[in-house]
Amino acid sequence: MKQWIALATLAAVSVGAYAQTFPGNKPVAIVVPFSAGGPTDRVARDLAEAMRKQIPGSNFVVENTVGAGGTIGANRVAKAAPNGHTLLLFHIGMASTPALYRKLAYKPMEDFEYLGMVNDVPMTLIGKPQLPANTYRDFENYIRANAGKLNIAHAGLGSASHLCGLLWQTNVQTKEAMTTIPFGGTGPAMTALIGGQVDMMCDQTTNTVGQIEGGRVKAFAVTTAKPLSNHPVLKHYPSLQEMGMKNFNLTIWHGLYAPKGTPAAITKTLNDALKKALKDPEFIKKNEGLGALVVTDNRTDPAEHKKFVAAEMVKIKAAVDAAGKYAD
Ligand code: MLT
Repeated sequence: MKQWIALATLAAVSVGAYAQTFPGNKPVAIVVPFSAGGPTDRVARDLAEAMRKQIPGSNFVVENTVGAGGTIGANRVAKAAPNGHTLLLFHIGMASTPALYRKLAYKPMEDFEYLGMVNDVPMTLIGKPQLPANTYRDFENYIRANAGKLNIAHAGLGSASHLCGLLWQTNVQTKEAMTTIPFGGTGPAMTALIGGQVDMMCDQTTNTVGQIEGGRVKAFAVTTAKPLSNHPVLKHYPSLQEMGMKNFNLTIWHGLYAPKGTPAAITKTLNDALKKALKDPEFIKKNEGLGALVVTDNRTDPAEHKKFVAAEMVKIKAAVDAAGKYAD
């Protein structure tokens, strides 16, 4: 019996000692469940840089695991070793995919340690440069008149771009359905849009601001309740509420997660580093430049983060069940 107690004590001491030195110089992978070059990837790379600053000698890196609206990457982290070296950066998909994928390989509320939320990102309705429309009204009328001949890109069923596109089309009540074109992320979708291979997309400002400013895509509206009048580029576009869609108000939030069972000392180290990263002037400036806002309220606390996602899951599930459209 004494041997067991000695072994258990040794194990506890070694986990404790390990947690004190975490992360050391071993890489901490922030898994992005979408392709490189898209909005989630952008947030993750900026966050990795800000987190590195908070823990001298640490090495936060981004790894992309693509597919199925972000659920392949989320499942990779759910099943990863709970040692703090594999994290997930996921957005509203953490709450929407359980409603859309009825056979999800993981349980969002049980298979993760919630590490705190990162930022809120508006979305923009954008079109290919050749689209014969320059105002939102022209755009909506053109899409309504030609829906059956046009297509809309997104990052997979359950992705933010997919949800936004669905919501918008439901409000516009196009007589025929548009063809939806899925990509591994809105990074590659943006390349197709700029090249005119797809007609339109609803995507996060972290991916669209630069392309709008560069004139490589046409922008028509933002998805927030009010226009983004403080942003030098986005202030030129109306909100969909201003265009008559009364309750349209969509902002994409991002959160950080570790596998369930990650030691509390490690999740505390990660949450402390996250909270400091969110106060890093450079990280704040990068987000604001892209139309995003870092979280400053209590959603940076793990318990509040989990409560927020649980509430979002209930809201989204009601809407998905009402529509009766699922991904599997
Ligand atoms: C989404 O549309 O859900 C994601 O923002 C896509 C991405 O990050 O590539």
